Amino acid sequence: MKRSLFVANWKMYLSFDAAVDWCKLCVRDGGMMAREADIIVCPEATYLSLLTKYLEGIVAVGAQECSIYPDGPFTGDISAAHLAQSGIFYTLVGHHERRLYYGETTLKITKKIIVASQNGVEPIICVSDAADAEAIFLAIKNESFLPKSIVCAFEPPASIGTGVVAEFTEIEKISLAIKKSAVSIFPGADVSVLYGGSVDVFSAKMLGNVSSIDGLLIGKAGTDFQAFKKIVSSFMSRVF
Ligand code: PGA
Repeated sequence: MKRSLFVANWKMYLSFDAAVDWCKLCVRDGGMMAREADIIVCPEATYLSLLTKYLEGIVAVGAQECSIYPDGPFTGDISAAHLAQSGIFYTLVGHHERRLYYGETTLKITKKIIVASQNGVEPIICVSDAADAEAIFLAIKNESFLPKSIVCAFEPPASIGTGVVAEFTEIEKISLAIKKSAVSIFPGADVSVLYGGSVDVFSAKMLGNVSSIDGLLIGKAGTDFQAFKKIVSSFMSRVF
């Protein structure tokens, strides 16, 4: 069975001290969780190097964002090439909050996916539904880029930060549609689909029963290490 993947998106929630405390708990208690599943923690850019040092050999660290450019005069941007050189091999791309507050378009998201992939950083592509995913996949293909692996996070906007997890049948249906569209556009690619949106310790077990998802993208609840650990173990108690 494919290993489950859990991505913690800390957004801009944690103070420096709280981030250090999370890392200390992870160093003490995170080993077992990381042996059983793939874990990626995405802190704000400020803490990337701190986490890379602290969590090395325990869990992976990812960025929340990267530039459409590989390098150059782009003040404030985060270079995917430099992420990889710093030992960071994952980045979120196309998160709903980036689209809502910073005007990210499908075109920009497509460029980021390609630049990240070409520089050795795996993009975790956040999408709002199957049509959104398909539009991004087609735009990537139009650029003649054919990824060998795709990690997509299905995050319905109505579920992000609202406390309302999407209907399980809806999650099943849409994640399957995303997978189908990915394999038809990129035959042979290894495709994983995560669910994200108000995941917490209560919903994680039920989400584990949604067979078409391969893991979770966890926002607010992932800023609490103990909650994050519980979410991982509840989801992992899935039986198929
Ligand atoms: P949430 O955020 O779990 O706080 O809803 C998920 C996300 O936006 O990635």
